[in-house]
Amino acid sequence: MNSDMKTLNNVDGSRKVILRVEKLVKHFPITKGIVMQSQVGAVKAVDDISFHINQGETLAVVGESGCGKSTTGRLILRLIEPTSGSIEFDGVDITTLKGNEMRAMRREMQIIFQDPYASLNPRMTVGDIIAEPLEVHNIVRGKAKRERVEELLKVVGLSPWHLVRYPHEFSGGQRQRIGVARALAVNPKLIVCDEPVSALDVSIQAQVVNLLQDLQTQFGLSYLFIAHDLAVVKHIADRVAVMYLGKIVELVDKKTLYETPRHPYTQALLSAIPVPDPAVKRERIILQGDVPSPINPPSGCRFHTRCPYAQERCKIEDPAFEDTGGGHYVACHFWQDIEVPEAVSAIRSGNASDHYLPRLAAYRRATEKKAAADKAG
Ligand SMILES: Nc1ncnc2c1ncn2[C@@H]1O[C@H](COP(=O)(O)OP(=O)(O)OP(=O)(O)O)[C@@H](O)[C@H]1O
Ligand code: SF4
Ligand SMILES: [Mg+2]
Repeated sequence: MNSDMKTLNNVDGSRKVILRVEKLVKHFPITKGIVMQSQVGAVKAVDDISFHINQGETLAVVGESGCGKSTTGRLILRLIEPTSGSIEFDGVDITTLKGNEMRAMRREMQIIFQDPYASLNPRMTVGDIIAEPLEVHNIVRGKAKRERVEELLKVVGLSPWHLVRYPHEFSGGQRQRIGVARALAVNPKLIVCDEPVSALDVSIQAQVVNLLQDLQTQFGLSYLFIAHDLAVVKHIADRVAVMYLGKIVELVDKKTLYETPRHPYTQALLSAIPVPDPAVKRERIILQGDVPSPINPPSGCRFHTRCPYAQERCKIEDPAFEDTGGGHYVACHFWQDIEVPEAVSAIRSGNASDHYLPRLAAYRRATEKKAAADKAG
């Protein structure tokens, strides 16, 4: 395994970039007609996103259902083909790789799925499930294969005797450990974790997250960690990318994101994180309206139909995704004018009662102002 942590840094001490995604687009065509199919539209699942992941780093991708998180993960692994854009893995542009070259590259990138129940073949023993990638990539055979599977079981906290058991004999958390062992089998450099703990009990979630963190330290792994909300990624992420309707709207290191979120959508997501103190009743920022369809996303800024700060410009002009300082990327025309609401600052201070109760969020005031303006106009 690539356990030598020294390889994580370049000679100059900077972190090595393991994955670089540039202007990545995935439009799923919508076709009409049975014989002579013609394209009548497209689901704009991922629409021009750029980011990178350093070796040994966890980049979390967070956003509501349907915003394009899984599509992003699948594109990176080339499980689906991009409409345009490029994906560079470990210095190689893999966007156009084919055949053996792509197969070799696939070994370096693995995926862990959300649903440990559905992602394991119920008719295969755990030993066979974990050994499958070793066979596909022709890595080890016979006794060495069995030893390797036993070693992997131990690494993820299971026992060698689990090898002959079937997935239904395990709990949800144990099944996810089997999924992790399977992903680790081929010594990958990058693992796409697609909501790996969402289907698990809260108490088990922490165990799986801890396991992933331990493995990262041990083997220098990089993760693209997909989650619905910011609560789950708080412990595991180094940096966080917030997605809305196929676009990244904010991307920065975790601490900055939780302390000074600059995009109104991030602020709304942050307000939804439960406060540990049950005596504190914090008001959530409730986003107005439904999530628009990715088939026909709103013009200009895609968030304008739900954003309390939206102005005329937002309906027309798509905000650039740019560095607002210190590597804090934001896609909002007016981020400088938006104050961080109390509902959000309460979370970052860890002392929700002090901050929350005195007044409603700036966000709510803006929502009311906008509603009044809409009514008047
Ligand atoms: N194969 C496909 N063909 C057509 N549309 C698709 C396909 N796969 C995904 N989509 C659409 O692309 C959009 C993004 O889907 P994706 O699965 O990436 O979202 P997600 O953020 O992972 O959502 P969730 O949190 O529910 O898993 C959705 O509108 C989805 O319906
Ligand atoms: S660009 Fe406008 S609509 Fe979009 S998030 Fe910023 S203020 Fe809101
Ligand atoms: Mg998904």
